[in-house]
Amino acid sequence: MKRTGPSLLQLRRNFALEYLCAPMHVILTAAFIKLFGSYRQKVLFDQVRRRQHAFGILEAADIAKRVGAKQVTVVEFGVASGAGLMNLAQICEAVTKETGISFRLIGFDVGKGLPSPIDYRDHPEMFQSGDYPMVNPDALKNSLPSFASLIIGDVKETVPKFLEELDKESPIGYVVFDLDYYSSTVDALAIFEGDREEYLPVFWSYFDDVSGIWFNDWCGELLAINEFNEKHRYRKLRLDHSLMARRVFKNAQWLSMVRSVHILDHPFRSIRSSAREAKVIGNTALGITSKLK
Ligand SMILES: C[S@@+](CC[C@H](N)C(=O)[O-])C[C@H]1O[C@@H](n2cnc3c(N)ncnc32)[C@H](O)[C@@H]1O
Repeated sequence: MKRTGPSLLQLRRNFALEYLCAPMHVILTAAFIKLFGSYRQKVLFDQVRRRQHAFGILEAADIAKRVGAKQVTVVEFGVASGAGLMNLAQICEAVTKETGISFRLIGFDVGKGLPSPIDYRDHPEMFQSGDYPMVNPDALKNSLPSFASLIIGDVKETVPKFLEELDKESPIGYVVFDLDYYSSTVDALAIFEGDREEYLPVFWSYFDDVSGIWFNDWCGELLAINEFNEKHRYRKLRLDHSLMARRVFKNAQWLSMVRSVHILDHPFRSIRSSAREAKVIGNTALGITSKLK
C-alpha cells in the first residue's frame, strides 16, 4: 500500500473549496488585494504563500510591540528539504518590513528523515522510517539568510539543549510543528517548558498533521497536545473557535490547524497595581466618553 499525506491535488481541491464557498465580492476583493494591497491586507485575505505562517508571525510581531520586545524567535520542527523554512524566512523578512520587529528563525531536524515509529500513535499507516530526509543540507544552509539556522539532531536531545540557551531578549513567538509523529511531537513540545520570560505571553503555533479523517485525539500531534495540556498548569495550547469570525476566508483549513499558546505564568499576565489609567465604558446618552486604551 502506498503511504502518503495529502496529495498536491487534494491540497488544490481544499483551496478551491475555500474559494468556491466564499462570496463573490470576497473573491474579487482578494484578487484586488493580491495585486495592490499592503502586506497586512494580503495576510488578512490569505494572499501570502503559507498564509497560516504569515498570520502567526504578523500576530507575534504585533504582540511583541505590545510587550516591548524588539525581536522574536520563530521555530520550525521538521525541516526536510527546507521548502517550509525558506518560506518562513521570507515571511519574517516581510513582517520585519511591515512592523520593524526582527526575527531569529531556527529549524530543527534529525536530517535523515523520520525515525522508526513507536506504534499506532505515530500513524505508521501514513509515515515510515526514512521518509522526508534533508536531501541537501549544505545547499539549504547556504540559501538561508543570516537570521536563520538549523539545529540537526533528534529533538529529544536538541530541544533541552536549546532551552538552556533561550534568551528573553528574543522570546519565542511562533512555532511550526511538522514532525509527523506523536513521539517526536511530545519531545518537541518541551520547547514550551522554558523560563516564562523566554516567550511572548500568548502566540500561535501551527500543527501540520491534525486535519483529516486519519487524525484523532488518541494518536499523532493531537494526542501530544492533549497530554501536554494535562501535564502543565501554566502552559496551555488552545483551539480558538472564534478565529473564524476574525478571518475573511472562513473555510480555510488552516484555521483548525493552529493553536493559541498561553504562557499563563508570564509576568505580563500577572496582577499589576494600577499601572495605567482605569478604562471607562462610554454612554452617549449620558455624554460619557469611552476610554478603553
Ligand atoms: C514532513 S517533514 C517536514 C516538512 C517541512 N516542514 C516542509 O515544510 O517542507 C517531517 C520532518 O520531521 C523530521 N523529524 C521527525 N521526527 C524527528 C525527531 N524526533 N527529531 C528531529 N527531526 C524529526 C524528519 O526528519 C522530517 O524531515
